[in-house]
Amino acid sequence: MSDVLLIQGSLNPESKTALVIQEAAKELANRGVDHEILDLRKFDLQFCDGRPLSDYNASTQQAYKLMEKARAYVWGMPVYCFSVSGPLKNLIDITAGAMENKSSAIICNAGGNRSYMALGDLSRILAFEARMVSVQPAVYTSYEDFEDGRLVNSEIPNRIKVMLDALLRQIDHPS
Ligand SMILES: Cc1cc2nc3c(=O)[nH]c(=O)nc-3n(C[C@H](O)[C@H](O)[C@H](O)COP(=O)(O)O)c2cc1C
Repeated sequence: MSDVLLIQGSLNPESKTALVIQEAAKELANRGVDHEILDLRKFDLQFCDGRPLSDYNASTQQAYKLMEKARAYVWGMPVYCFSVSGPLKNLIDITAGAMENKSSAIICNAGGNRSYMALGDLSRILAFEARMVSVQPAVYTSYEDFEDGRLVNSEIPNRIKVMLDALLRQIDHPS
């Protein structure tokens, strides 16, 4: 069982969400927290159509297993149309059964700096569907935090630390 699963929810090969998720993974490694990354770009997820899990392809079932064995999640959420991106919502539709009553933290990555309310959509979906209350604070990033394919806002790593403090407290992790 991994303690924390980081979910990278963008399919963009040059994803900025992925950079922030990597930063969070680095912090978990520093703290000696067992973690894994589910990067949607590395999975061949089928669209949810309500069929039994066993009828989806192997990659989709593998994603479900990763979700099932984690105790807590860090969601890397790209903002599309002021809400959760389609690929990430599809993952939730398929794997919600694996998430019941677990703990969540949200990293929300958008183009502009005014789409932060979008993370409330993810928080609400997780609460209604899987009884997961997301910890506060969440981390929000936008284009101005990146330069030349790198995360350059030096405040973000600190915000990630505070968010992870709250998440690890929820699962009583000693770090
Ligand atoms: C279809 C689409 C819709 C988007 N909608 C919004 C939006 O409503 N608000 C916003 O601030 N950025 C929006 N963006 C910008 C993305 O949030 C931004 O490109 C972000 O970096 C995406 O994450 P990624 O780099 O990990 O793929 C949109 C981008 C796309 C492709």
